Amino acid sequence: MNMKKRGKFIVFEGIDGSGKSTQVKKLAEYLKSKKDKTYTTFEPTSSPVGSILRNILTHRIKASEQTIAALFLADRLDHIQNEVNGILKMLDNGFHVICDRYYFSSYAYHVPHVSLDWVIEANSVAAKLLRPDINLYIDITVEESLRRIQANRATTDLFETKERITTVRKNYLEAFERLKHIEKIKIINGAQSVDAVFEEVKLAVEDLVF
Ligand code: ADP
Ligand code: TYD
Repeated sequence: MNMKKRGKFIVFEGIDGSGKSTQVKKLAEYLKSKKDKTYTTFEPTSSPVGSILRNILTHRIKASEQTIAALFLADRLDHIQNEVNGILKMLDNGFHVICDRYYFSSYAYHVPHVSLDWVIEANSVAAKLLRPDINLYIDITVEESLRRIQANRATTDLFETKERITTVRKNYLEAFERLKHIEKIKIINGAQSVDAVFEEVKLAVEDLVF
């Protein structure tokens, strides 16, 4: 008899430096301390499609914006369905899956190069297969993002970076507004201390998990 309880799919979203990976780690440690089986993952993945994407992101390969958006979707479909370590398989095996970025990243990063309608429509395949139990958006300002990036990196093209991050943040908020009736979204103020942000993460997740 299969008594395994299906795990929950918890997604973190946010602009660069918002604290996603910090919170993914804290939540995984917390759930593990409660003896819950937990698996952490991220997009773009480390699969073959994911490595093509990393080569594109680092300018080693060139591709059109539509190709890039489609590759992210292909990477996501494999991430969901892979028979060895796909998210659906992990959830069925009773693991909570915590994921750093999912389809809202596509809505935020590919618009306006491709239309929001197009990216949402393309990703409806992924949404049908697997909708997050919750999307946790760690919200920081563009200025805070730039401060954190500058503290961590040797060189940045400030003008381009600021422009890009501003667009991405605006796109996230528009996509949340657009999909708020079908997606579970929790916006968390990421300007607080790491521990204060985590308290809010815990509150949002405890409702689901325990
Ligand atoms: P992301 O994965 O969203 O890019 P990270 O978790 O890597 O973000 O955090 C980016 C940087 O900001 C890191 O140097 C991290 O230590 C720092 N950081 C994370 N959360 C906070 C916070 N709440 N307040 C201040 N700095 C933070
Ligand atoms: P990475 O450095 O791995 O992640 P992070 O910046 O969160 O630490 O880079 C991921 C990049 O990929 C990031 O700039 C956002 C982008 N991205 C997309 O453009 N579309 C997507 O669908 C996803 C999941 C990510």
